[in-house]
Amino acid sequence: MPYALGVVLVSTLFLAGFLLYARLSRVQHMRAFPGPPRGSLLTGNLEDMFNPLAIAFHTHVTNLYGRVVKINGFLGDIQLYISDTKALTHLYLKNADSFESDDFTVSLGMVSFGPGVFGSAGDLGKEHHRQRKLLMPIFSTPNLRNFHNIFTDLAVRFQDVFREMVMNASTGTGEVDIMPWATRLSLELIGVVGFGHSFNGLKDDKDEYAHAICRLFPTISKMQRWAPLLPLVRQHLPSAVLRWLAEAAPWEAMHEAIDIIDTGHKGALMVMEETKAIIRSAEKGSKGDTEGPNVTSTFRMLLQANAALPKESRLSESELVAQVNSILFAGTEASTVTIARILLSLSERPQLQETLRQEVLSADGFDHDRLMSLPLLDAVYKETMRAYPPVHLLPKQALKDVVLPFRLPVTRTDGSEVNEVFIPKGAICIVNIAGVNRSVDIWGPDAHEWKPERWLSPLPDSVVEAEVPTLFAHTLSFSAGRRACIGSKFAHIATKTVIARLLAEFEFKPTDHKIIWKAGVIVSPWLENGLRPSLPLYVSPLKK
Ligand code: HEM
Repeated sequence: MPYALGVVLVSTLFLAGFLLYARLSRVQHMRAFPGPPRGSLLTGNLEDMFNPLAIAFHTHVTNLYGRVVKINGFLGDIQLYISDTKALTHLYLKNADSFESDDFTVSLGMVSFGPGVFGSAGDLGKEHHRQRKLLMPIFSTPNLRNFHNIFTDLAVRFQDVFREMVMNASTGTGEVDIMPWATRLSLELIGVVGFGHSFNGLKDDKDEYAHAICRLFPTISKMQRWAPLLPLVRQHLPSAVLRWLAEAAPWEAMHEAIDIIDTGHKGALMVMEETKAIIRSAEKGSKGDTEGPNVTSTFRMLLQANAALPKESRLSESELVAQVNSILFAGTEASTVTIARILLSLSERPQLQETLRQEVLSADGFDHDRLMSLPLLDAVYKETMRAYPPVHLLPKQALKDVVLPFRLPVTRTDGSEVNEVFIPKGAICIVNIAGVNRSVDIWGPDAHEWKPERWLSPLPDSVVEAEVPTLFAHTLSFSAGRRACIGSKFAHIATKTVIARLLAEFEFKPTDHKIIWKAGVIVSPWLENGLRPSLPLYVSPLKK
């Protein structure tokens, strides 16, 4: 037996070594691109790239090495960190079938949310495509316009709760931590509009699902340096064994992650059962059950659209639960930090804050189309998305051999210039979202500044000429291509409604606290030594 075990072990190691060698030999030519020194032998530059304080590193390597940067990966692997817009157009659109989310992101999506949009990638994306086809129409602008009253109603209720809290805070210092409030509001918006479910987030902060959502991304970022191991263990171990190992591991972050995932799953199941019960009542025609805020929801439409499909195309029960989980988690955190960023930026530009306030007050009634077309509100939103993308990078993995051409020649470390790069199957290209959004070549010398005014005059020719593969406002903030954000329209409406309501009633001023923007899956504000994302601002009710 020990002999047999030894043989298996040696053969496995030999095979692993051979596969690693084969893989590394295919990315050798990518070493010629400029990039930071290797760092650790085991993890290359991955610890510099993926740690909470990595933002300065990203800005530094983009400024120093340019549009195509070599990043050293796990055990000598080479990855490219790309902000060249032509290469990205090929990655996202022209060779859309050649790239997918990387193995880690898909594994994480599967482990965290189940077989929803984030966890589906197999069979060249057919599964993913099937799921998206059902989700897309539901999150379209014409459909969401029908929910305008719910958006407004929630924002007004939030205004009341927030006013009461600000009054209490004003008797002290007037300092309010925006993050927990913005999280509760974002979750409530997605909960009610998306799923017809109130998390009671506007009443109190006791909902365990709401807590789980706030904790997920910070918890994942504590474990991210071990990211490359997740797809490996998931591939080779049955889920029951994986679960057992995760529970047994003496690792606090892992236990926290399990708790969050379980709570998420339980909450998503509950939402699903509630919606099914509503549909059943509606079918029976029982009055009372077919009225009220939780009766109309995008999820109800999704369940009905799904039921109308031929059996073989329908999403299964577990896929539906996974969509609930994916959408709640994906939407809440990104919307929260956007609201926080806008309020902080406006607090630092008091005159602009006042001009915007006058604009929203003049749009009395806050009707959907009027609100969405207010020029300064639109400029503030676009500029925040451009300058501060909540998701600042996205790893994508080549599904087949492919060539990415460059917009302008790239100089390699030996001085030679190239106009394209060969990306072998399996190699990882990291989309440098912040690098594109804040490119000086595209946006001009003030690209790194938050300047909403730039959207009020014609944009420079260089913006159009760059041909960014964009879903929104020449930026990559909502990504692009077949995995582009499903909730972008939702985010536009929700954020603008909330900001308009808040500015109509309150004034925001900065505090002396030092805010550190930490990179996780989402870039979020923290205080030094803070245990959770936090953004204190002085808030005072406006004198009427
Ligand atoms: C400011 C707010 C938001 C930002 C910046 C944002 C950004 C993103 C980004 C960068 C991706 C990754 C795309 C890729 O892998 O290429 C994504 C995916 C996704 N987002 Fe958003 N998002 C926001 C709000 C929302 C909201 C409100 C929802 C839902 C109501 C939502 C639902 C999703 C879903 C379901 C996906 C997965 C799409 C797929 O894999 O097919 N997002 N988002």
